[in-house]
Amino acid sequence: MKSTVYNLLSALAPLHYDNLTYCHKQSLKILNRFSGQHKRFHSLMGKDPVHLEKRMVDGQYLPPWFSVAPMMDWTDNHYRTLARLISKHAWLYTEMVVAETIVHQRNNLDRFLAFSPEQHPIVLQLGGSNLENLAKAAEFANAYSFDELNLNCGCPSGKVAGHGCFGARLMFDPKFVADAMSAIAANCSVPVSVKCRIGVDDHDSYNELCDFVYAIVSNSPTRHFIVHARKALLSGLSPAENRKVPPLKYEYYFALLRDFPEVQFTINGGITGIDQVNAARRQGAHGVMVGRAAYNNPWSTLRHVDSAVYGIPTSSLSRRQILEKYQMYGDSVLGKYGPGKPSIRQLVKPLLNLFHSEPGNGLWKRKADAALRRCKYISQ
Ligand SMILES: Cc1cc2nc3c(=O)[nH]c(=O)nc-3n(C[C@H](O)[C@H](O)[C@H](O)COP(=O)(O)O)c2cc1C
Repeated sequence: MKSTVYNLLSALAPLHYDNLTYCHKQSLKILNRFSGQHKRFHSLMGKDPVHLEKRMVDGQYLPPWFSVAPMMDWTDNHYRTLARLISKHAWLYTEMVVAETIVHQRNNLDRFLAFSPEQHPIVLQLGGSNLENLAKAAEFANAYSFDELNLNCGCPSGKVAGHGCFGARLMFDPKFVADAMSAIAANCSVPVSVKCRIGVDDHDSYNELCDFVYAIVSNSPTRHFIVHARKALLSGLSPAENRKVPPLKYEYYFALLRDFPEVQFTINGGITGIDQVNAARRQGAHGVMVGRAAYNNPWSTLRHVDSAVYGIPTSSLSRRQILEKYQMYGDSVLGKYGPGKPSIRQLVKPLLNLFHSEPGNGLWKRKADAALRRCKYISQ
């Protein structure tokens, strides 16, 4: 019988890697012009975790070897608070915040951008297709000290990529993305990154993906891409189907590592456990981003990140202690932005998955749900 690790490794192996080639004559020269970007990231990449202790003492974050994906309505402040209680070092991405929201709500920004200092390292994901608004949004967000600003070029939802003309649709216009990234970078003091798919609709060849990456790295300071390794289909599939139906092509991701050696790439899509995270890193992945598994099963997905990925002792908090700490957090923010903002339901939502697939999980969810109807405080 094949071992689990063998299966995971073969699942991630760049199967058609050798068939994927891309010629980018000028790329290295151009890339070197921007080599100052992501110094912090570069300086730590490739080091054995045991050598990282000193960097932490120096007050630097560990690199995004492991990150939790941006997920609308899921990776809000509440979920991130819970995630941080489980893993100290995972990088946490916010939900996408549309640039226009930030610009129009400039007097109410805490509601969209504030987070507690414990949530570092944290990345704000922006969405939008208006250069001026993206620049202003970056400027306003800069005051909140995020550790990186990211642009969403992967969301296929009709509201975003259709009516909104951003998200995955931006992959059709790499020149615009480069301009947007330059505008964002010019208005913030942290590194910038792009989260994209491997293609959109029938623009799904490896060469087209390379053209996209190349246009951005040669015309903007972007040096980090998060690649959701499946294409997006802009019509006919719901957002949820767009995360399942188009096949994962990890080989595109691994070919990018070869073709753009000066760029950092984080792999995303279909990775569900620490064994797979480490298998991807052994294959050369610079960083691994996990989405649904980190939300649907936060304890088992995040609990071993600090030790197994970063080589640093895992938090000793039990789930009971985590619940106690979360209760204190919940009561401190309940109704902070007006009646029901946030509501008990919003605050309790991330807890519902804490005992995923364990005996008593159904009972826990039913009791939590029943309690929601009568409680005025989380601690009740
Ligand atoms: C509920 C939900 C909301 C999402 N919202 C966003 C988003 O706001 N921005 C984004 O770039 N990706 C978003 N995604 C996609 C994830 O970031 C990730 O790319 C995708 O789920 C694949 O990773 P996974 O297989 O580890 O879940 C969302 C995914 C889910 C499940």
